[in-house]
Amino acid sequence: MSPATKYETHEHDVLIIGAGGAGLRAAIEALAQGARVGVVCKSLLGKAHTVMAEGGLAAAMANVDKADNWRTHFRDTMSGGKYLNNWRMAQLHAQEAPDRVRELEQWGALFDRTDTGDILQRAFGGHTFKRLCHVGDRTGLEMIRTLQDRGVDLGFDVYMECTITRLLKDGDRVCGAFGYWRNSGNLVVFKAKSIVIATGGIGKSWKITSNSWECTGDGMALAYEAGAELLDMEFVQFHPTGMVWPPGVRGILVTEAVRGEGGILRNKNGERFMEKYDPKRLELSTRDIVARSIYTEVREGRGSEHGGAYLNISHKPAEYVKRKLPSMYHQFKELADVDITKGPMEVGPTCHYVMGGIRVDAETGQSTVPGLFAAGEAAGGMHGANRLGGNSLSDLLVFGRRAGLAAAQQAGKCPATAIDNAQIEAAERDLLAPFTRAGGENPYKIHENLQDVMQSLVGIFRNDEDLRKAIVELEKLKARAANASASGSHVYNTGWHLTRDLQSMLTVSEACAHAALARTESRGAHSRIDFPKTEDAWGKKNLIIAKKGSAMTLTEVPRGAMPAELQEILAESK
Ligand code: FUM
Repeated sequence: MSPATKYETHEHDVLIIGAGGAGLRAAIEALAQGARVGVVCKSLLGKAHTVMAEGGLAAAMANVDKADNWRTHFRDTMSGGKYLNNWRMAQLHAQEAPDRVRELEQWGALFDRTDTGDILQRAFGGHTFKRLCHVGDRTGLEMIRTLQDRGVDLGFDVYMECTITRLLKDGDRVCGAFGYWRNSGNLVVFKAKSIVIATGGIGKSWKITSNSWECTGDGMALAYEAGAELLDMEFVQFHPTGMVWPPGVRGILVTEAVRGEGGILRNKNGERFMEKYDPKRLELSTRDIVARSIYTEVREGRGSEHGGAYLNISHKPAEYVKRKLPSMYHQFKELADVDITKGPMEVGPTCHYVMGGIRVDAETGQSTVPGLFAAGEAAGGMHGANRLGGNSLSDLLVFGRRAGLAAAQQAGKCPATAIDNAQIEAAERDLLAPFTRAGGENPYKIHENLQDVMQSLVGIFRNDEDLRKAIVELEKLKARAANASASGSHVYNTGWHLTRDLQSMLTVSEACAHAALARTESRGAHSRIDFPKTEDAWGKKNLIIAKKGSAMTLTEVPRGAMPAELQEILAESK
């Protein structure tokens, strides 16, 4: 049977893979350019890690602190990222974020308000001013709701519960994607002139994580396999505050908004330990510093009962806490039987975000593969070595729009491309192989072991010995994953789905471990106990991972000089 009859096919000018904030914003912009747009999501529409950015969206609106402006936002972002950020991205982000917020508001997003009716902004770590536009502690959810309504209204086609397993190419250029429906197991081919990867992050490779099951690094692995470069994959953000107790909810996010609204961290002796680690900014220090501080308190025996720290907001009026942090109030009440208006929460670091990702052009989100774009967490560069809280939602809007625009423009100029049936057949063989390996390994066991390796050897603090050990263990896990088997039918077979997700998780984990070993310094979220200093020389280069033949290669790429006008902005703070 020829693939044309064997596979369901769909055709679009622009195919967006991923339906979080970046994917939806890209889709809206591509539609506005007149492109025929398809959006594929692994989960249901509206279920995205974007909702885990609870506390707000950073934009220099100056509604609360009148002195704020894009220059300060740019400077904070670069300083938070330890100056490894793609400065052009950081500049565009700071300049364009306020317009993206106003646009969102016009499309129906509801924000909390100041007394004078402006969008209310709250404090967050590393931001000089109160800059986070928010809706209680449900900002990401409101953003997704708004973008989804807008996109559906404008008329994109949505393909839900569909996993893409391979990008198809015509010569150097991407021309489509192959995947399967999660519920039926049936196969599907998408033809497209441009593709935007907006699949989010890689957190499911770690044991303690705020990420849910979708975040397996699919988009980065797809791009890598298609020949794209990955940038600075060593920088993984551990959000300082996830739940630590009870065990079944460990890692679930406790928004930074708790600290933004005045929450205080203490150790088991009642000491406000941030006075020691960052006496000026205290709980509103950057995430890398707060996460390391909590981790250090625990390691040195001053942790809370279940191995974290105490975060208390109960000194604020109960009515205020319930109004500003309604999700946190219910989360702790229902999951931990703790009333946060009366006593402290127990919190500890949780893997939340990856600053590295697909290497893209700042203006367009174009990857190093023609026709392939990336935006949001799947793209690297914007946040450097450490992301400031709230800069993710604004990143999604600014660079989702830019990638959607460029993808649509390029689709309009795209020469006719042809789908190669041999590529489809190879992708099918690979996808269905686990059914042919009777008696192979259980993929759940491999996933559990992968999470143990990444959590214990590629965590908050790293060293040469651990990272080398991790690389050896990842090789063994790769061999085991190549022998993982699936049994039963193709219908909603989650074990089979995991065999596929494991391939992506192993690719991004390997990229992270190799880059972490190569970067012999400490910078932002990458802490080497054997190389504790931040080195000027390392600030002048990025680490690039690419596939050459079947091997993963790593190269150092010089960053070039920052334009004088941006250097002046950075110098202003000094
Ligand atoms: O803590 C939070 O609300 C998360 C925000 C973010 O990751 O940007």
